[in-house]
Amino acid sequence: MKITIFGSGYVGLVTGTCLAETGNDVLCVDVNADRVARLNRGEVPIYEPGLDDMIAANRNAGRLRFTTDVAEAVGHGLLQFIAVGTPSEEDGSADLQYVLQVAKSIGEHMDGYRVVVDKSTVPVGTADRVRAVLSEQLAARGMDVPYAVVSNPEFLKEGAAINDFMKPDRVVVGSDDGRATQLMRDLYAPFGRKQEKVLVMDVRSAELTKYAANAMLATKISFMNELAGLAERLGADIESVRHGIGSDPRIGYHFIYPGCGYGGSCFPKDVKALAGTAREVDYQPLILDAVEAVNARQKTVLFQRLYEHFHGHLEGRTIALWGLAFKPNTDDMREAPSRTLMEALWQAGARVRAFDPEAMDETRHLYGERDDLALCDSAYDTLEGADALVLCTEWQQFRSPDFDRIKAALKQPVLVDGRNVYDPKRMVDAGFTYYAIGRGESVRTFN
Ligand code: UDX
Repeated sequence: MKITIFGSGYVGLVTGTCLAETGNDVLCVDVNADRVARLNRGEVPIYEPGLDDMIAANRNAGRLRFTTDVAEAVGHGLLQFIAVGTPSEEDGSADLQYVLQVAKSIGEHMDGYRVVVDKSTVPVGTADRVRAVLSEQLAARGMDVPYAVVSNPEFLKEGAAINDFMKPDRVVVGSDDGRATQLMRDLYAPFGRKQEKVLVMDVRSAELTKYAANAMLATKISFMNELAGLAERLGADIESVRHGIGSDPRIGYHFIYPGCGYGGSCFPKDVKALAGTAREVDYQPLILDAVEAVNARQKTVLFQRLYEHFHGHLEGRTIALWGLAFKPNTDDMREAPSRTLMEALWQAGARVRAFDPEAMDETRHLYGERDDLALCDSAYDTLEGADALVLCTEWQQFRSPDFDRIKAALKQPVLVDGRNVYDPKRMVDAGFTYYAIGRGESVRTFN
């Protein structure tokens, strides 16, 4: 099938590449000429495991191309995917200007049946707005060309996006047009050979499904983070509680890991946007607001620990920081808890020595050169002259470090574990003052 993908960002690139992988003829179009030039030289502008190789293979096979030429792009694909950004407005609602601009371009150039597929995360009702733009453009050209607008939200996790796309749990298709539905089924047939993975529903339900999924996951995390705070104050261990409840299949083990808060490009944005949508229809989003508030509080927990440990005197202190990305296997720093921590530390007059396996350039880009931030070459380099070590992101390489070396290098053996990756008893036995998330009394009893 001939496919056009508007937007060569994260979602667009993964979608285009994976669809080329199953034999489609994919043309990706982006307004950023520099980005397109880089992609045409074989440079991949984002970090996603496995993506480079897959792009290279499909470019070599001639199934994946990149262009800035909108007219060519609209002429190419029977399916036209919109995978451009939907940044948050001040009030948290999604900014649809790029999505609607693409719709306008399609309407300006199309001269035969097209299925316009909303892949970007867009509020409920966006497909109707896309449809309105298309019909307006066609009317202005005096043309009567049939088209369908379909919602096909993505459920990709950064760091596992290729696998998520190639082996989806489900493919949600919101479509009110029989021909378009069949095309979408055909397109996704190779991804669910063993069982039918395509869930067809009406357009608005598909649009809401995307937000519902992310909001539910964010809710699980905030719920656990709230319970972690409670466990700490009650002398319980949230990790025991997590096992205790996760073993109930109705609850399950997934996404109930307490930590220093969720970040990334999706959860924070989508929870806010859905709450905004609720307000627009005069419905008070009680749970969504709470999920967000709990997360905002949770992102301050690591700083609070340090503040209390040092009795409010952080000025002149040096804090070593392991992990900057919002989660492992990405260089993405959007809404990362590490940022809340670093910014609070700087505000309090402390210095940060940080290391992340992938997000160093991104951090440099965000904060530039500053006296109170040292970006170190290795995890152990951060410890030099540091008063405490904080783990913010649970990269695999941080999971079983040389604790003797850490203890010897730190000025004081203080370890704040923002992801509960270490064993409290072992830490205490090794002579650390060890703080974790929601493991209050159980840690103290080891002393
Ligand atoms: C998420 C969704 O998982 C994905 O389906 C959607 O398409 C986009 O948003 P992503 O943002 O890439 O994906 O990361 P994810 O692995 O879901 O983690 C999000 C955040 O939640 C991270 O900051 C992570 O550290 C945190 N998290 C996750 C927890 O704190 N506890 C958990 O139990 C799980």
